[in-house]
Amino acid sequence: MSVAETLKKRISIRAFLDTPVDAATVHALLDDARWSPSGGNLQPWKVIAVAGTEKAALERLAVEAIMTNPKGQVGDYPIYPEGLQDPYRARRYKIGEDMYALLGIPREDKGARLKWMSRNYQFFGAPVGLFFVIDKEMGNGQWAHLGMFMQSIALLATERGLGTCMQEAWGMARDSLHQHFGLADNEVLYCGMALGYPDANATVNSLRSERAPVDEFARFRGF
Ligand SMILES: Cc1cc2nc3c(=O)[nH]c(=O)nc-3n(C[C@H](O)[C@H](O)[C@H](O)COP(=O)(O)O)c2cc1C
Repeated sequence: MSVAETLKKRISIRAFLDTPVDAATVHALLDDARWSPSGGNLQPWKVIAVAGTEKAALERLAVEAIMTNPKGQVGDYPIYPEGLQDPYRARRYKIGEDMYALLGIPREDKGARLKWMSRNYQFFGAPVGLFFVIDKEMGNGQWAHLGMFMQSIALLATERGLGTCMQEAWGMARDSLHQHFGLADNEVLYCGMALGYPDANATVNSLRSERAPVDEFARFRGF
């Protein structure tokens, strides 16, 4: 698979098979992904990989954390900026509506939408969860580099027939996870990622997101 093919094949997978993914496979993914670039070669990423009983404990922890604080433990790191404007607002709305339309969950059925959302905290049934941690003193640049590292993992997983879903939703349980993992005061848990073999028969995995064409986001000058 070429890089371009892998990029287009990678989609967010939100239903997985039970098929386990062993530690050696996760290790191999990280071993390749560590070759991602970072400014000054800081390599500002830290990863916690979970499976089995540890993963189950986190699923319980998230439910508890979010039940006790429905607004989430987002702290200084909200998932979206406040007062999101177009075109970003419209894009966010569209992907959500497309997904719920596919799942046959109408807008009014808040309960069903919430129930579906809560599948985030079961890693959408994936056998492995990854968490990405970064030091608080790191700036915007290093956060971008962490994102490159995450994308590398997603592409490498796709190449191996695995699927991923990045999950900022886990930020809603940030404080509880911080405590659970015994993170240092200067560390912050940014995002989760579900990892496993995609369930090809699951309707939700047929969701295809759109992208704005190049002319909408790129300016060519001096050519
Ligand atoms: C950093 C990051 C965090 C995300 N968090 C979530 C999440 O918590 N739950 C979810 O279902 N999708 C999440 N997504 C998936 C996005 O909704 C998805 O990438 C986007 O709609 C484009 O679709 P695609 O990944 O299928 O190309 C996240 C994506 C990124 C890059």
